[in-house]
Amino acid sequence: MDASRETVRLAGRRRPVILDCDPGHDDALAILLAARHFDVLGITTVAGNVDVDRTTLNARRIVDLAGLDVPIARGCAAPLVQPAVHAPEIHGESGLDGYEFPPPRAPVEARDAVTFLVDTLRARDGITLIATGPLTNLAMALRTAPELAGRIREISVMGGSATFGNVTPAAEFNAWFDPEAAAVVFQSGIPLWMCGLNVTRQAGIDPAGIARIEALGTRTSRAMAALLRFYFDRQRDRVGVASASLHDPCAVAILLQPPVISWVPAHVAVELRGEHTRGMTVCDVRHVPHFNPAAVDGGPPRGAPPNAHVAVGIDRGAFLRLIEDALASYP
Ligand code: BDR
Ligand code: CA
Repeated sequence: MDASRETVRLAGRRRPVILDCDPGHDDALAILLAARHFDVLGITTVAGNVDVDRTTLNARRIVDLAGLDVPIARGCAAPLVQPAVHAPEIHGESGLDGYEFPPPRAPVEARDAVTFLVDTLRARDGITLIATGPLTNLAMALRTAPELAGRIREISVMGGSATFGNVTPAAEFNAWFDPEAAAVVFQSGIPLWMCGLNVTRQAGIDPAGIARIEALGTRTSRAMAALLRFYFDRQRDRVGVASASLHDPCAVAILLQPPVISWVPAHVAVELRGEHTRGMTVCDVRHVPHFNPAAVDGGPPRGAPPNAHVAVGIDRGAFLRLIEDALASYP
């Protein structure tokens, strides 16, 4: 490990995490925010925004860019039961359009992502999993080694929504891409954090924010600014939003102190059958005053007990400062 890599992989007792992702512009930011605050034991890639060869290549590019020294393992190429349908209209054909990366140097593990997850989780208790893509790898790992559920500290998911979807009116992309896998994770009994679209759509960056990132003046910040300009244009043109939603770093930010994302306990079920609702995360917020003011006076009866901390609000300014701080910390 060379000295510059050593400086960004800070020693000490930081929370051990594995990041499971499908980079992806916002996944790239999640990697950088996670590595700023946590001990990233590995990055596992999965098919989602683009195919898994491209998401793996993109993970290597981000690790190279920031000078990180983190194992990368290539994961599942398709959802558990349905064919893969990618999202090049948002992230470009490469999955990370907007910047010309040099040839990748970071190696890829000989082990696939599911084996890497199972091996790493068996070797050490109390690991946090942060998932910012479809949940195929995590579902496969839990199916392969169900006993691991009791040893994982928590899973923080960017996916689903407590309100509206993006791929369909009801379903968010990561949950829609592999609903069966999402159901495995939400039924696992592992402590869960869910940052859904209802909050991540509020975590937007506009051209002024991107300019601030560029002005940090580092190699990493300049590259991320170029990437975010592409992503902003696509989000404006294809999604119709006035700022580019930084969905994935929310799944990192919700774990940080002081809190920038607020949450409520709720039961989340993944819809697997509905004609119009397949992939929807059905959040039981009937008893949550944030959604249902009547609940203040008792509200409707509770359903199944909560299985997740569901994000309901974000301090956008503080969140964007976390992003800037992270980007400023890399070469
Ligand atoms: C999610 O889908 C992907 O396009 C993003 O990377 C994010 O993980 C948002 O719906
Ligand atoms: Ca993603």
